[in-house]
Amino acid sequence: MKLIEPMPHTFKEKIRGILPPEEVELICASTDLRRDGNFGTGWLVVTNKQIVLLSPGDTNGIVRVPVEEIVSARTEPLVGGGRLEIERKADATVVIPYSNSLAEKFSEIARGIEQLRKGEPFLINPQLDRIRCKKCGRLLPEKNGICPACIRRLATLRRIGSYLMPYKWRAILLAVVSLIGTFAELIPPMITRHIVDDVLVLKEGATSSMAERLTLLGLLVLGMVGIRLVRWGAEWPHGWIVSWLGARVTADIRSRLYRQLELLSLQFYDKRQVGAVMSRVTRDAGRLQEFLVDGLPYLVINGLMVIGILGFLFWMNWMLTLFILIPVPLMIAWGVFFWRRMRRYFNKWDQAWSDLMAVVNEALSGIRVVKAFAQEVREMAAFNKRNKKLQRISIRTEINWEIFFATSSLVTSLGIMIVWLFGGLEVMGGDLTLGTLLAFYAYMWLVYGPMEWFGEVNSWMTRAFAGAERIFEVIDTPPEAYNDADAIAMTDIEGRAAFKAVTFGYDKSKPVLHEINLDVAPGEMIGLVGKSGVGKTTMVNLICRFYEVDHGTIEIDGVDIQKIRLEDLRSQIGIVPQEPFLFSGTIAENISYGRPGASFEEIMQAAQAATAHNFIVAKPDGYDTQVGERGGNLSGGEKQRVAIARAILHDPKILILDEATSSVDVETEKQIQEAIAHLTKGRTTFAIAHRLSTLRNADRLLVLEGGRVVETGTHRELMEKKGIFYDLVQLQQQTSEMIAVRE
Ligand SMILES: Nc1ncnc2c1ncn2[C@@H]1O[C@H](COP(=O)(O)OP(=O)(O)OP(=O)(O)O)[C@@H](O)[C@H]1O
Ligand SMILES: [Mg+2]
Repeated sequence: MKLIEPMPHTFKEKIRGILPPEEVELICASTDLRRDGNFGTGWLVVTNKQIVLLSPGDTNGIVRVPVEEIVSARTEPLVGGGRLEIERKADATVVIPYSNSLAEKFSEIARGIEQLRKGEPFLINPQLDRIRCKKCGRLLPEKNGICPACIRRLATLRRIGSYLMPYKWRAILLAVVSLIGTFAELIPPMITRHIVDDVLVLKEGATSSMAERLTLLGLLVLGMVGIRLVRWGAEWPHGWIVSWLGARVTADIRSRLYRQLELLSLQFYDKRQVGAVMSRVTRDAGRLQEFLVDGLPYLVINGLMVIGILGFLFWMNWMLTLFILIPVPLMIAWGVFFWRRMRRYFNKWDQAWSDLMAVVNEALSGIRVVKAFAQEVREMAAFNKRNKKLQRISIRTEINWEIFFATSSLVTSLGIMIVWLFGGLEVMGGDLTLGTLLAFYAYMWLVYGPMEWFGEVNSWMTRAFAGAERIFEVIDTPPEAYNDADAIAMTDIEGRAAFKAVTFGYDKSKPVLHEINLDVAPGEMIGLVGKSGVGKTTMVNLICRFYEVDHGTIEIDGVDIQKIRLEDLRSQIGIVPQEPFLFSGTIAENISYGRPGASFEEIMQAAQAATAHNFIVAKPDGYDTQVGERGGNLSGGEKQRVAIARAILHDPKILILDEATSSVDVETEKQIQEAIAHLTKGRTTFAIAHRLSTLRNADRLLVLEGGRVVETGTHRELMEKKGIFYDLVQLQQQTSEMIAVRE
């Protein structure tokens, strides 16, 4: 994959002058710092043969580095930014600084250059955080967001429409009743015309008698009642179907979106804020519904009506029609101008609203920390600052609205004056009947009303479509491979596990694990040991296939986990995560989370095995105790034991205990240890613990350092070896002895 950013014309020309045509551009990326440390745009172009640097305002403007001259390419993090260092064989190292916002991009670039240098296949991930629109280069409203200016409206509309397909009969019915309703709306002014011309104001030489006129009046009024009834009859199915369809289609899209969110990989979530993802389910879906229920039907009906009326008016009196159309361009121009202006306010409003929500969300989730540090006032201040901003924007928006309506009605009144003036003249001249003039007058309102709103349609659609595209973007992100047809079904794994030269980093250019090799026999218990942040949790994440390895393979029973059916793999792994997460609900529900159908007996057995039974029954509600949101009503150790019970009930072939007993006292830990020792029989177990004594039962210990395995062996072997593990144990013993002495 290439990483090509749109380059301004002047730079493009320059590059074209430098590069031979046969060279392939692989990377073309901008920097935001100059080499003197000031802000300024420079460009980095990497081809299969060389690297070209263009930095304006720099004395040595262009630097070229042939690939074979490169010794290494790496990124160095600095305060507020970083730099890409390209070390050369003969000359001094080339340094390219950038600010923090580009750090990720440059680590990919460094990786790409390294691949070229080593002659490896060029494989970088161009899916970096996008700050600017790829097409037009505008700043995006949110990171990786959708550019409101570049939305493919028709395609989006078609896609929204595709969600209507299952309900096409209702949609057709809707179109029919809409047509009937619209048509019915066009008739009353015609009736008025007859009433005025044929009943009230008689033409000269007309011979109808009083009785005839009365009958006609009665008939016409009856007709009006009939039409009114037809409209009423059309209106309620119309309203019903519109609401039903809008809600239904939005619910469909929302549930499709949520399904996707459940299936997306952790990598997707690592890159995004939960709040931003949630706003797609709530705000964007809401906007879409608004558009489907209010916007689209309004647009279609009024569009039809305006066309219908104009045709009709032309047929009645084309001259007067032309006259009343005079203010229309003015109205449209004003509408377009206004809505363009309003869009800015809407965007600002959206932004201010999410900022406010972010503050509320974080402060309320962390309310304990806020209180513990007595920072309520600070949080209130932070809230008020954003609340004020929202208020300011709201006021501006409202004022603009008022201006809009006032001006619109001014322009509209221009039309009214025209009708009275020219229409009046024609009536006086005998070219137009009074009835026709009144009909004109009524129709004019029907035309002007929607006209005012047509300017808005654009902005309306933009908002709804931007929401829709944000939703579709998530829907289109490839999910985890749950439905891979070629995946191998392995419903009964034995539990053999192997790491083969596994290298992995959350950021591809900074591996956390290097070349890990490991063979685990079925039923073996492996203890993972190492300093904090060394990659222990990362290793078990890889076994669960939460992330894909960068190099090498992980095998279960000799099969690459990437080929095993994901469901089979995960359903046979039980994990007690480092930070146990419980869902709100009862303890029993939480224990049976992985096996919803489990009987109470089974739940109790699992709790007993996890030494959780005693504390559970000591609670007034026992197994029906509500754990609160995220298990907040339980203590840390209680939560851990519920999480262990949950993993046990899952009855996995591979058990992962990530600091499973870190929050319990030594006595309880001992009990859990015994229970686990019993449990781990016949299961492959990976146990991580900082309290090293915990891992005494392990068949083998793996000591990690610097992302590599530096020691392996049984507890005793490692102690005899007097290496790193021995030192760690000594250190821990000294510390606990020191504490004991002090006590
Ligand atoms: N989701 C993530 N995205 C980016 N970096 C991560 C992520 N999770 C962990 N890291 C980084 O990867 C490295 C290894 O983390 P890991 O959680 O595997 O450490 P650990 O050995 O389990 O440490 P501890 O003993 O503190 O739990 C750390 O430097 C951490 O900052
Ligand atoms: Mg960890």
